[in-house]
Amino acid sequence: MNEEALFRELLQLVLRYRQGEREDPLLQPLTPETLGRLLELERPAEGDWRQLLRWLALYLEHSVKTGHTGFLNRMWSGANLPSILAEMVVAVNNTSACTYESAPVSTLMERHMLDTMLELVGFRDGEGQMNTGSSSANLVAMLAARNEALERAKSDGLWGQQRLCAFVSEDAHYSLDKAANVLGIGTSQLVKVPVDGHGRMDPAALEALLEERRRAGEQPFFVCVTLGTTVRGAYDPVAPVAALREKHGFWLHGDGAWGGAVLLDDELRRRYLPDAALLNSFTWDFHKMPGTNLTANMLLVNGRRDAFRCACSAGEHSYLFREEQETHALDLGVGSLQCARRVDSLKWFLDWKFFGREGLAARVRRYLALAEYAERRIGELPQLELVVPRESFNVCFRYRAPAGKEANAFNLALRHRLYRRGEALVGVGWIGDTLTLRLLITHPDFSEADVDRFLEKVVESGRALS
Ligand SMILES: Cc1ncc(COP(=O)(O)O)c(C=O)c1O
Repeated sequence: MNEEALFRELLQLVLRYRQGEREDPLLQPLTPETLGRLLELERPAEGDWRQLLRWLALYLEHSVKTGHTGFLNRMWSGANLPSILAEMVVAVNNTSACTYESAPVSTLMERHMLDTMLELVGFRDGEGQMNTGSSSANLVAMLAARNEALERAKSDGLWGQQRLCAFVSEDAHYSLDKAANVLGIGTSQLVKVPVDGHGRMDPAALEALLEERRRAGEQPFFVCVTLGTTVRGAYDPVAPVAALREKHGFWLHGDGAWGGAVLLDDELRRRYLPDAALLNSFTWDFHKMPGTNLTANMLLVNGRRDAFRCACSAGEHSYLFREEQETHALDLGVGSLQCARRVDSLKWFLDWKFFGREGLAARVRRYLALAEYAERRIGELPQLELVVPRESFNVCFRYRAPAGKEANAFNLALRHRLYRRGEALVGVGWIGDTLTLRLLITHPDFSEADVDRFLEKVVESGRALS
């Protein structure tokens, strides 16, 4: 097959997938054994384009259709078309966004988008970088804070230095534990601050823990507030935590991976995140609520222009980064932990240009209105109950288990039934000891009728299991 014929066939496959994405079944619940047999993983295919096209078709056929309205499992659904087009072009060009020399367009687009976001968040004299997601952005933020707190940490490690400790709420994302592990802080030195009845970090409890650790001779160097928690969608209070920074001198990071999207809309910003400009750093994923193809993340730093270079640079005199290059100062790889960097800027740039801030803000407002609607409907359905009141975009609810059935196990079975039947893939989480179904609406075409359809399926499944 020649290349043109290959691309034509591929385009047909892609179009067929896109057209059926909403109507075709969400998934085909095959066992791994059956799927493995279908995929014929051992089959040789040297030079066999037909077989490669068959695998591409099988991939699309047997993947979970994330653009289906039943895909309610994660913090995104499907992807924006401009960013899909961008991804295809990025694959064809296949460069690494580490130097201007090898990725000139991407470098300028990434820098342009990061500057745009620094202004949107309200950071002055700062800088930004794209990471592979908020997990890695949280790690880089903690690294920058660690190296600022202990001047010799980068060269000497943590040997013989004052013991560090960091603070997050009990409901923070697990990536902070991973960061504490990777950076040699130790997961037991990541102090979990209790949350209030809304799932928000309690600043009084934080203050008491800061004092306690100080008295024990430790150095509190990093506090991360979560701005849109993973399960409840709660926003930790920024201003009262920032007030403690004066005394304790920690780096205040904001994890807005999910909830940062409220910054797109002035009214939502006032309601949920009015004090973003007080943070020292902030991360937010465009691959979550705004719908850009995975992955599109930003990490922004306030009031520091060389934070990433100080924290991450190494090998600056290596084969890659050459100071005699006129454009060396633009090289994004210097301050990054990655060497090969996927081009994530093109899709982000195209989405931003095509939808505009207001277009994306309207989408976020709509998701919130649909979450309100879902909450109301759950209140009207006697079989269902909210596990906790809604804080923002996350609706935490469950089926009222019939007498004699344990509620957590019952709801887990219900969720599994929805999955097995290809009806819905809905998120799940824990609030204390209570298992909750977590409804997140992130599909731009999702409607009230889709909310109703989903809740009907939940009720139907609950009845069948009762
Ligand atoms: C609050 C929060 N922070 C960080 C992350 C990790 O983001 P990523 O998947 O982009 O690494 C998540 C993911 O769900 C999250 O909810």
